Amino acid sequence: MGAIGIDVGGSGIKAAVVDLATGTFTGERVRVDTPTPVTPDAVVSATRALIAPFPGGLPVGVGFPAPVIAGVTTTAAHVDHGWVGAPARDLFTRGLGRPVAVLNDADAAGIAEARFGAARGHPGVVILLTLGTGIGSAVMHGGVLLPNTELGHVEVRGVEAEARAAAAVREREGLSWAAWAERLSEVITVIDGILWPDLVILGGGVSRKAARFIPLLDVRPPVMAAVLENRAGIIGAAAVAAGDVRT
Ligand code: BGC
Repeated sequence: MGAIGIDVGGSGIKAAVVDLATGTFTGERVRVDTPTPVTPDAVVSATRALIAPFPGGLPVGVGFPAPVIAGVTTTAAHVDHGWVGAPARDLFTRGLGRPVAVLNDADAAGIAEARFGAARGHPGVVILLTLGTGIGSAVMHGGVLLPNTELGHVEVRGVEAEARAAAAVREREGLSWAAWAERLSEVITVIDGILWPDLVILGGGVSRKAARFIPLLDVRPPVMAAVLENRAGIIGAAAVAAGDVRT
């Protein structure tokens, strides 16, 4: 069974057709720069053009960087304010001309890691943190997702975690891997004091360089890199679209 997964990110919108038996892409991943301003109309139009070459008739899922409750986006940390309270599922469904499932981007990544990646078969509490423009989170227990956790917004030293420790912050501030790992350790430690996970998975594009920073972390729970790297959001969105997983 195949489905189209779409990941709306701070810098790019990415999509692929996903084979849901294996959790792999069946062809090329396509990408377009996220339009600015990141308004609902602009994102839906860019997404329509992006997936136009894909076969029609496949279910479509979108991972979006905000909590999504019953298809409605509730905040807009890195997107235009027009997304606050926007009927995202209806907007995408109308714009793409077929039913679209919409969920939080990090939740999509968590679903994919639970099904095909680092959290596969894990019976305990697993937290995936996506490190990108912001910090997203997926909290799972026995592979079942608790949707819309927003752990990137916990306060660390009086500042939102994602404002201190997102991957984009490391680049923007030119932090060394060690300095960034120290900030990440603080974030994980604050989260650990609340949820006591059995495993923390770090995802996002920077997970490709996990060897540079995971060994430097000083935290209680075991930490590993996402197996699916930044493909996870696309794969999880496709799985939800196909009705394989409930959110
Ligand atoms: C948003 C989350 C999102 C994360 C990663 C945060 O700023 O509030 O909903 O998952 O960024 O994109």
